[in-house]
Amino acid sequence: MRYLRNKILAISLTSLCIFSSAAFAQNSLPRIESKNGRSALIIDGAPFSILGVQANNSSNYVSQLPLVWKAVNELKANTLEIPVAWEQIEPKEGQFDFSYVDELVKQARENNTKLVLLWFGTWKNTGPAYMPSWAKLDNKRFPRIIKKDGTLSYCHTPHSTNTLEADKKAFVALMRHLKKIDGDTNTVIMVQPQNEVGTYGSVRDYGPEAEKKFKAQVPANVLKKYNKKAGNWQEVFGENADEYFHAYSIASYINEIAAAGKKELNLPMYVNAALRDPFGNQKADSYASGGPTDNVIEMYQVAAPNIAMSAPDIYFRASATYEEVLKVYDRAGNPLFVPETGGDRDFARYFFSVMGRGAIGYAPFGLDYTGYGNYPLGNKIVTPEVLKPFREQYELLAPMMRTWAKLAYENKVFGQGEGDDRKPQYITLSKDWKVKLSYQEWHFASKEATWLKGDPVPNREVPTGGALIADLGDNTYLVTGLDVRLNFEIGDAQKGKNLILDRVEEGHFVKNAKGEEVWVFDRVWNGDQIDYGLNFNREPRILKVKLATY
Ligand code: DGJ
Repeated sequence: MRYLRNKILAISLTSLCIFSSAAFAQNSLPRIESKNGRSALIIDGAPFSILGVQANNSSNYVSQLPLVWKAVNELKANTLEIPVAWEQIEPKEGQFDFSYVDELVKQARENNTKLVLLWFGTWKNTGPAYMPSWAKLDNKRFPRIIKKDGTLSYCHTPHSTNTLEADKKAFVALMRHLKKIDGDTNTVIMVQPQNEVGTYGSVRDYGPEAEKKFKAQVPANVLKKYNKKAGNWQEVFGENADEYFHAYSIASYINEIAAAGKKELNLPMYVNAALRDPFGNQKADSYASGGPTDNVIEMYQVAAPNIAMSAPDIYFRASATYEEVLKVYDRAGNPLFVPETGGDRDFARYFFSVMGRGAIGYAPFGLDYTGYGNYPLGNKIVTPEVLKPFREQYELLAPMMRTWAKLAYENKVFGQGEGDDRKPQYITLSKDWKVKLSYQEWHFASKEATWLKGDPVPNREVPTGGALIADLGDNTYLVTGLDVRLNFEIGDAQKGKNLILDRVEEGHFVKNAKGEEVWVFDRVWNGDQIDYGLNFNREPRILKVKLATY
């Protein structure tokens, strides 16, 4: 067993403000800021992490809200993502009804929760289900895509000015109303215009209007983005032409709606993606072609400047696939945000991978008590037991949400969820330090010990672990996690030296009178508590770890 020297602690303060957030600027509009390749969602003037939850699709009625808040509160989520349907606010053309929106915003304030509104308009999961009847049944006025073989698709074309104008009019009315009821308060922090766009079963529209545009010259800004020479879509993009053209057409349509809405109330807006295989082993006719899949994020950036990011809805259960999605969406100019992920235990651990990449937020889908489970994508039915792993994760970050968001934006953060193989993972923190994450470990032993074989740690049958780490500077890290052991190691630049944990301080965050998050010292971990590494079980614990060498 390693012998670790006790340290005489110079610091006698019991509380220490490690990162006081700047005084919050009430009434400033939510926005997304980026610098040095990192992004932050700024709410009330300071970085904010969405510890979110998305309600079920048909929970957007006042009658369902108590069942939604019950879950939001149990989860300790700070943000609710919930639909506002076109059919609901404009059941008769030109007549708007915002009673649901009014009640929703009022109840969100009462529940101390921010809102992300999901505009289910022309496209919801690519289809017109949430269009009002007067629009979705009138194929002449609001035409659908024509497939290559001349038959009609279920999906509405992005080339119809009628549909665009009608959707835009309703969306603008919504944003205008929001400005009236929430313009000074910012309960609503983001808006998602449309939901999972694209088209299944037809890579693009082959109708006459679309054909005309497809044969025209590719716009100059697209050429510039892709560094291509002039030509029509086929000439410029070859085998990708159909999909790229469709992505451009849909992104432009959404952009126009978003721009008009932002003129009323300038909230950040994003699109969510029905994903394709992130390893690229799928053809465009087998996924939602034209949606913001990883291969056309750039097209959305150029065609939809009013859209802040393309955000992945992640329902892949396998850890390698999940991590790959994060990798391909976490790229320059595309702030990482996971607006939907499976609301089931298997998925919970990926919270660490998402937030560890400095994401602006994360939200499991369908976690409300309206009696619906979207298995096999997510859970079979929502129960308190299903909410528990997500709540336990939010309990780690909630008390230091602003501190974490600021560190993610201005310093460096790291994190990883347990992999399906249950094997240790290594994270390079800097040239000086690495950290090993290991799982299914007894606190005072190493799994490799032969005498422990056949004596597994209980309740660890499936992967549930993960850790989050923030660099505080001065060889000090803020560390938290669940069902994981952390062992810091010497990095490449310090080869030959030996690592010693100078000080491992356990503490917690409280809010001071100004609303700032303040670190409160509880105790120093030493002896058994650090001999085999820093072990986290399901208790919410936060450590400040100072590393040194000898
Ligand atoms: C992704 C969609 O965006 C959600 O609205 C929902 O339909 C889920 N899929 C499936 O439950």
